[in-house]
Amino acid sequence: MWILPQIGPVLKLYLVGLRVLLYQLLHRAFTSPVLPPQYGKVAIVTGGARGLGYEVARQLTGLGMHVIIASRDEEQGLAAVKRLREERSAAQVDFEFLDLASLDSVRRFVCRFEDRRLPLHALINNAAVMLVPEGKTEDGFELHFAVNYLGHFLLTRLLLGVLVRSGTDEARSRIVSICSAAHYTADTDLQDLPSMQCYSPHAAYSCSKLAQVLFTYHLHQELQSGGFPVTASAVDPGMVDTDLYRNLSTPAWLVQRPIARLLFRSPSQAASTAVLAVASPELEGVGGCYLYEGRRVQSSTASYDAELQARLWRNTCSLLGLPESQLACL
Ligand SMILES: NC(=O)c1ccc[n+]([C@@H]2O[C@H](COP(=O)([O-])OP(=O)(O)OC[C@H]3O[C@@H](n4cnc5c(N)ncnc54)[C@H](OP(=O)(O)O)[C@@H]3O)[C@@H](O)[C@H]2O)c1
Repeated sequence: MWILPQIGPVLKLYLVGLRVLLYQLLHRAFTSPVLPPQYGKVAIVTGGARGLGYEVARQLTGLGMHVIIASRDEEQGLAAVKRLREERSAAQVDFEFLDLASLDSVRRFVCRFEDRRLPLHALINNAAVMLVPEGKTEDGFELHFAVNYLGHFLLTRLLLGVLVRSGTDEARSRIVSICSAAHYTADTDLQDLPSMQCYSPHAAYSCSKLAQVLFTYHLHQELQSGGFPVTASAVDPGMVDTDLYRNLSTPAWLVQRPIARLLFRSPSQAASTAVLAVASPELEGVGGCYLYEGRRVQSSTASYDAELQARLWRNTCSLLGLPESQLACL
């Protein structure tokens, strides 16, 4: 009987994956319109050293933005910076160490960023782990929950002050969280999330992604009701040919590789919606939405549950020792 709770999340995730693949088979990848230059603007991209995050960083530097690649791998981060500077000598890009699995690392990252006295116009919460074996962070949290959700929650909350100061009513700062169709399959009972007593890596990933969407919507609502010049939106990149799938079992990985070559979006194609969310004039003031292939789509029914959003927000603040209403003091 113990196997049933394990199989359910796997099947649900594979079915959603099939649906996304079918869509990608039948539709061309979204291509972004020409976006206005972003000179003088600063963005942080978590997990920007490789995969989708690297492409987002690349396209944003192409628009003239100063991009800070926040990565836990210094060698990889510096190599990414070098490649971007080689490609475009005027690229303003640098690396800062950030391990989202450590709340202390998140706090230290924010302190170093504040010491630089830079503005911040866009925060792209992109980094993630998927299907990692059961494990806990140094703070005692389940890994998917910690990296994909909790670390980004803390990062965002600690950077809100500078995001608010950098935004104006004509050009709001933008928080863009890279979510996933996996959230459609998540169990809405998020109580067990921080520890995951009955561990399923598939459920853990899906729940962490639902938590990200719930957080994004609630945050946007709070920002709007406080009149702050910041928006928050969720971006679903579709299925992308990156190393995110490296923890699949060997048979699943052997099947996934050729399919990925044929049907997955390239990181460059998939980055377009995230870059649109950061820089499109049409999306000025737009937030609290779920963007997929360049347009707003419905996220899961559960993600719109205001009570669930508020409960998760309260519980997360309590886990992190943050005041629930910090936004009022910004
Ligand atoms: N690929 C897809 O099909 C797909 C589908 C839906 C959603 N997404 C979402 O797209 C985003 C990007 O994923 P991807 O496909 O580009 O995967 P990826 O190639 O595996 O990249 C993940 C990034 O996250 C970073 N990261 C992992 N743990 C971290 C930590 N503790 N601290 C800081 N950074 C950490 C990784 O850095 P290291 O190099 O140090 O590990 C890497 O840069 C994720 O949010 C993912 O959930 C992807």
